[in-house]
Amino acid sequence: MSDRKPIIAANWKMFKTPTEGYQFARQLLPKAMNLPGVKFILCPSATGLYHIQEVVKDSAIELGGQNLHPAEEGAFTGETSARMLVACGCQWVIIGHSERRHIFHESDKDIQPKIPTALNAGLNVILCIGERLEERQEGKTEEVLRQQLRDGLAGMETYPIDRLVIAYEPVWAIGTGVVATPEQAGEAHAQVRGILGELFPGIEAETVGILYGGSVKSSNAEALSKTPGIDGFLIGGASLDLDEYVKIAEISQIEA
Ligand code: 13P
Repeated sequence: MSDRKPIIAANWKMFKTPTEGYQFARQLLPKAMNLPGVKFILCPSATGLYHIQEVVKDSAIELGGQNLHPAEEGAFTGETSARMLVACGCQWVIIGHSERRHIFHESDKDIQPKIPTALNAGLNVILCIGERLEERQEGKTEEVLRQQLRDGLAGMETYPIDRLVIAYEPVWAIGTGVVATPEQAGEAHAQVRGILGELFPGIEAETVGILYGGSVKSSNAEALSKTPGIDGFLIGGASLDLDEYVKIAEISQIEA
């Protein structure tokens, strides 16, 4: 990890009711106070946000949405706006998660307008990118990452890039139990940093946080957290269990 605070972000996906999320957050609170060397971000489903903000407001735990619609408001049944996320206490939003891309067929062009919308609303963005197994096997990982960053971040040259975090989540590692090796993750993170430097020549690519996601657990977090260029984790399954989530944070803090 770099010398900035590692981000330990929980993506709860479509798990946990508002009550379950609230109880988790209450139990996390005292533990998070003992771990000031990491940044905790909880991303519950939209229904859980309002309830959980009561627990985490004025604490070190930050809150994020899992998606948003790029329009300010309108007739978009089932969608959530940036303003709604902010009103529910969010400082963050995940954009372009692999499940949004592959299950709900979001393209880079669908994803792109969500980023300025989020930043304009005052949200920090976690932009998810990552290659599929066949793309890796065909040696196309860097090409896929470049395309997702170039198209997803099109027109962002004048935006505050310091409010953007990239999550490298190889699709083949998400929910599979197959975690990227530290070498694979470290190589991809270096590629992402290089591509950001090409796309935004004026910025210090070093200042952009790059998280790793995909089957992170307490058993593999240590080796990954020691890998240069990994600035924290975006955790799915393992973040649903409080002890496991806190253990990953402890490991990351020790290595910070
Ligand atoms: P898992 O940790 O369950 O593999 O999920 C990763 C992920 O998709 C986080 O956004």
